[in-house]
Amino acid sequence: MLKVENLKKQYVSFEGGPGGGVLGVSFEIVQGELFTLLGPSGCGKTTTLRAVAGLEVPDTGRISLGGTVLFDGEAATNVPMYDRDIGMVFQSYAIWPHMSVFENAAYPLRVSRTRKLSAREIETKTMATLDMVGLSEFAKRPSTQLSGGQQQRLALARAFTREPSLLLLDEPLSNLDAQLREQMRIELKRLQRETGVTAIYVTHDQAEALAISDRIAVMNQGRIVQIGAPKEIYGRPSSEFVANFIGRTNLLKGTVVGDVAAEAVATVKTALGMLDGFFSAARRAGQAAALVVRPEHIAIISRGTAGDVEGPANRLSGRVTRETYLGEIVEYLVAVSGGEILVRTSSTSDISNGDSVSLIFPAERTIALLEA
Ligand SMILES: Nc1ncnc2c1ncn2[C@@H]1O[C@H](COP(=O)(O)OP(=O)(O)OP(=O)(O)O)[C@@H](O)[C@H]1O
Ligand SMILES: [Mg+2]
Repeated sequence: MLKVENLKKQYVSFEGGPGGGVLGVSFEIVQGELFTLLGPSGCGKTTTLRAVAGLEVPDTGRISLGGTVLFDGEAATNVPMYDRDIGMVFQSYAIWPHMSVFENAAYPLRVSRTRKLSAREIETKTMATLDMVGLSEFAKRPSTQLSGGQQQRLALARAFTREPSLLLLDEPLSNLDAQLREQMRIELKRLQRETGVTAIYVTHDQAEALAISDRIAVMNQGRIVQIGAPKEIYGRPSSEFVANFIGRTNLLKGTVVGDVAAEAVATVKTALGMLDGFFSAARRAGQAAALVVRPEHIAIISRGTAGDVEGPANRLSGRVTRETYLGEIVEYLVAVSGGEILVRTSSTSDISNGDSVSLIFPAERTIALLEA
């Protein structure tokens, strides 16, 4: 539905040299999908959205929406922003201070050139969206009398009332407190599903990205480094950057012992000893490999007790050197021969600092990175 090909937009730095921006980004989104751009601050997420919206003229590349070319650097095509059927919620929310809450949310329906609605229909639709974001009781208020988080919810409501073919959401929940944020991301996902609107969602919050996205594109320094469903990105990160960005991880570097076929478990020689990992791509003996083990995939037991795991598993012994209580879970740092391992487990665990422990983690959950 949306196709972005080799999009480039490089800014000039403050000193006059080449600055940051987007250095060749390509992706495709299908109808009704919620696609997320996830990455650290400054990696080019907002620049990508602004180029799609038509707020920024790219240096090169091609953008098409539902078969219509919006931008083509080579053919010098550039459809102006107001002729693109795209709605956007900005990182810094923009609501109109001279209008009431209701008028802000109703505005896109009043000015729509494609849909002529009666006053009654506008009223019903607007109140329904205000209700969704929890602002219906404030409908008559001047919009300046809302808190920052309420203004952000209003901006979200306004974007949804418009029902554009593509909705761009740039960190739309960034000003909300943690609890409201979690509640709103569920609401947002539900609303997106119900309206069937295609959306690009921008965030630097990995938990948020995993929770709401159909697919995630992880960005770093102006480029997309991996695209996949949340489970793929989390369970099969392709690079060290993605593995680290998407949650805490243990990264164990080494070399492959024998030749490895694709989609197979194989042994890697690491500083911690021989460890078995799952390889999605083939490798030759002696090639470098990096294994990723999530802290929550490691079972921690008192040394000497039997731990049962199904299938081939890695076992290490060590001593707990740090115990951090985090509420529902507890985090242990375990010193093992040749390094340290981070483990997370349910806080019902009776292991404490200084204990001698065994660590067990299944080979199939010990993932070899594609690029190492
Ligand atoms: N108008 C501009 N002039 C010069 N450089 C810019 C301009 N806008 C953005 N940049 C630079 O381009 C890079 C990408 O910026 P962008 O706003 O796309 O990042 P982002 O991924 O949205 O980050 P954040 O999560 O902090 O919002 C940054 O290095 C930024 O400093
Ligand atoms: Mg941004």
